[in-house]
Amino acid sequence: MSSSAIASARELLRWYDRHRRRLPWRAEPGETPDPYRVWLSEIMLQQTTVTAVIPYYERFVSRFPSVQALAAAPLDTVLSAWAGLGYYARARNLHACAQVVAGAGGFPADLVGLQALPGIGAYTAAAIGAIAFGIPAVPVDGNVERVVSRVFAIEDPLPAAKPAMRDGAARLGDDPVARARPSDFAQALFDLGAGVCTPAAPGCAVCPWMEPCAARRLGIQASLPRKSPKKDRPVRYGVHFWLTDDSGSVLLRTRPYKGLLGGMTELPGTQWRDTPWTVEDALPDAPMTVAWRPAGQVRHGFTHFELVLDLLAAHVPVVQGEGFAWRLDALDGVALPSVMRKCVRMVGG
Ligand code: ADE
Repeated sequence: MSSSAIASARELLRWYDRHRRRLPWRAEPGETPDPYRVWLSEIMLQQTTVTAVIPYYERFVSRFPSVQALAAAPLDTVLSAWAGLGYYARARNLHACAQVVAGAGGFPADLVGLQALPGIGAYTAAAIGAIAFGIPAVPVDGNVERVVSRVFAIEDPLPAAKPAMRDGAARLGDDPVARARPSDFAQALFDLGAGVCTPAAPGCAVCPWMEPCAARRLGIQASLPRKSPKKDRPVRYGVHFWLTDDSGSVLLRTRPYKGLLGGMTELPGTQWRDTPWTVEDALPDAPMTVAWRPAGQVRHGFTHFELVLDLLAAHVPVVQGEGFAWRLDALDGVALPSVMRKCVRMVGG
């Protein structure tokens, strides 16, 4: 790690006061942040972009205006509202966390207490602690890693360089000016990473830390942070069945609550395995013995594997099979994850 003059919180906060983003969960200057809203937004923003989160966040706060309202809602209602955001363990933990917090009468205002809650790790505890409670902690997400790797010219690749990046972030935050405004300092880092210190073509000319940035001095800013080459994601295969009937319904079922997409709704189908299926292989898992026709193929990327699904379709007078019939014109009301929405689109539902 090389650095000379350390990047100062004063410069960053001066920039933030002028250029801060207005975000629906963000308190305006002078407003007191609502821990419920801060927590909800931080859970949604884990692994998900600000643009994708905004409509979900708006819907959640109008449907569940308080942590008590969220705790009192059935899990299936919360999963339906979450459908499409991905990483569904977050929604199950969100609901569990709401119940603990509602039972305790409010959020704990310290990092240890926050981190003990379902779905809250070190990063999220730091983000909520800083933003909602003014605790001088620096949350280090991908944006902040990028800023820090550049300010200090950390050339070791991720993920090995994570501890060095956390140390760098802590050094930046250990400035009396940052410690006086932990909430703004954390959010200023997010905004700098999202709007100026961007991955491919950083806007160094308008950056408040252009002078002290070690990577900029070396001319390597656009190549940081470096990443260890990714292993190819394995491919898994499955077959799902689109079974409709004369009443305008389609057969759906609920996935087991534990595991990937737990508790979400899906078209009935086979296991997802690492070898392709033939139709004959898949038919024992079909909900009815009828003439199935091929209805297309869907691909979907999960974090740890790529999924290829073949669809088989049939129409019968009355759907039967394990699961439940759901009206085709009311599919918006069901907790279909993105991969299943793609299937529905493919078969024209
Ligand atoms: N990314 C994670 N948390 C964020 C926040 N509070 N504002 C903007 N981007 C974020």
